[in-house]
Amino acid sequence: MALIELQDVSKLYGFGDATTLALDEVSLTINKGEFVAVMGPSGCGKSTLMNVIGLLDKPSHGQYRLDGKLVSRLSANQSAKIRRDKIGFIFQFFNLLPKLTALENVALPLTYKGMSVTKRLKIASEMLDRVGVQSREYYLPGQLSGGQLQCVAIARALVNNPQIIIADEPTGNLDSGSSRLVMELLAEIHKMGNTIIFVTHNPELTRFATRVVYMHDGGIIHDEASTIGRVATTARKVLYTIPATREEDDLAGVSLLMKALPSKSSVAKQPVIKVKKPRTIKSKAKAK
Ligand SMILES: Nc1ncnc2c1ncn2[C@@H]1O[C@H](COP(=O)(O)OP(=O)(O)O)[C@@H](O)[C@H]1O
Ligand SMILES: [Mg+2]
Repeated sequence: MALIELQDVSKLYGFGDATTLALDEVSLTINKGEFVAVMGPSGCGKSTLMNVIGLLDKPSHGQYRLDGKLVSRLSANQSAKIRRDKIGFIFQFFNLLPKLTALENVALPLTYKGMSVTKRLKIASEMLDRVGVQSREYYLPGQLSGGQLQCVAIARALVNNPQIIIADEPTGNLDSGSSRLVMELLAEIHKMGNTIIFVTHNPELTRFATRVVYMHDGGIIHDEASTIGRVATTARKVLYTIPATREEDDLAGVSLLMKALPSKSSVAKQPVIKVKKPRTIKSKAKAK
């Protein structure tokens, strides 16, 4: 069943000569229970797409239906309410409040629910237990490692029991061990029936996804089903050509992939992947 339905959604930033077309008539349907990886080079619109889907930002044009309800023209308050009830966010830089303990950070989204403080902290503590960092509940964010911070952020995203989890480069700032831990947590959440959309530069992480959406220049240029446990077909072609050990290499790989993929007008065709001279592309990725 369609949970997220974007139809010809565009997003413009700025105006006049300074206009950026961050999303260019994107149509995308995501069903309940999908685990979608979104890939593409820096600046191609991935975060904008996450923000639109997560109701943090409104489309400039086009329609967005969430759970069958048209949500593209809601007021800020109406959007906030739906966001609170249905969506959990996880970000690359964790976005935890530095002066609150892990426990208080996780309890924060429950504030509006009219529960007693004791009840809120109890639920938050259980959630921290679920993600394996309950022993750190009285620590401040500054006292935790990157992996622990992301687990706390996941606990906060889950505390309201949202249907949809949106994770914008959740492992972008983590070492490979912590990345795996975070992805395994997301996989568990997915198994419980949640719909998850995550952005990644790392082809390896498509192993966790049931579908991979590739973006370029504000549009979706390729969309493929993927099997859990296997690197997605298109992403794999990049993985095996470039030893992607660092974020920078992953980025180079992704921009290489984008060059090899068909243009938007021929999305239906099977992509022809020609991989050559990663070094040239790497320097371009760096310059960006
Ligand atoms: N708030 C904003 N104001 C102006 N331009 C923006 C804003 N957010 C994003 N953009 C621009 O929109 C394009 C897409 O950005 P973004 O969605 O952040 O890409 P990605 O997440 O793929 O790196 C970029 O050119 C970026 O500079
Ligand atoms: Mg981004």
